[in-house]
Amino acid sequence: MGYEAKFKVWRGDPESGELRDYTVQVNEGEVVLDIIHRLQATQAPDLAVRWNCKAGKCGSCSAEVNGRPRLLCMTRMSTFTEEDVVTVTPMRTFPVIRDLVCDVSFNYEKAREIPSFTPPVDLKPGQYRMQQADIERSQEFRKCIECFLCQDTCHVVRDHEENKVSFSGPRYLMRIAELEMHPLDVGDRRELAQEEAGLGLCNITKCCTEVCPEHIKITDNALIPLKERVVDRSYDPLVWLGNKLFRR
Ligand code: SF4
Ligand code: F3S
Ligand code: FES
Repeated sequence: MGYEAKFKVWRGDPESGELRDYTVQVNEGEVVLDIIHRLQATQAPDLAVRWNCKAGKCGSCSAEVNGRPRLLCMTRMSTFTEEDVVTVTPMRTFPVIRDLVCDVSFNYEKAREIPSFTPPVDLKPGQYRMQQADIERSQEFRKCIECFLCQDTCHVVRDHEENKVSFSGPRYLMRIAELEMHPLDVGDRRELAQEEAGLGLCNITKCCTEVCPEHIKITDNALIPLKERVVDRSYDPLVWLGNKLFRR
């Protein structure tokens, strides 16, 4: 019960590009990545696309389908009608290398700016003890597959290249929040969040949460609690101490 679908796929490089029209066979149960692979096999052998697991777990196949940040391997063709034209473009927030493949090194640079987990010096591995609630909080954030769809969709950088210097994006603000709320991390990361990672630029539009394929509540569980901590600190350092001691 297949059909011929109309596709528009962005083809190009950093200098120039265009949307090209293709008509491709679609079979029952397929996802957009299947169609892109069929395009490669039958009509466009040089079409560049990044993918790996085809199971929504490696975070490689991020792109935009009809303008929405999506994993190509998790976007079912059954969500479109047979008459729909399906447009596939690279993530808009990052520079294109070729066709659907972007240079996402912005994200790795932002990751490197965050000091790693810092436990108390007198505590040896094996002596770490945590409440189950604290473990579960970290585990939600650790479901991240680094697809960078949240980074792609956030309006702070999506159309504002100039903000990239001062904004780390939801994925890395979430990492700072994870460490800041970690009961065994002795670092104070609120100044880093506000001054260097641009927490103040986030106006909690929640677009990042909406596109996350792991359904992590980035805004509610990471960004808003981090903002509360930063505000507490700017009004009263004793509040921060109280939070560290009593609110965990
Ligand atoms: Fe992708 Fe979600 Fe991780 Fe963002 S937080 S990089 S959307 S998995
Ligand atoms: Fe951007 Fe998410 Fe904040 S989309 S503005 S980081 S809530
Ligand atoms: Fe791995 Fe899509 S190919 S997430």
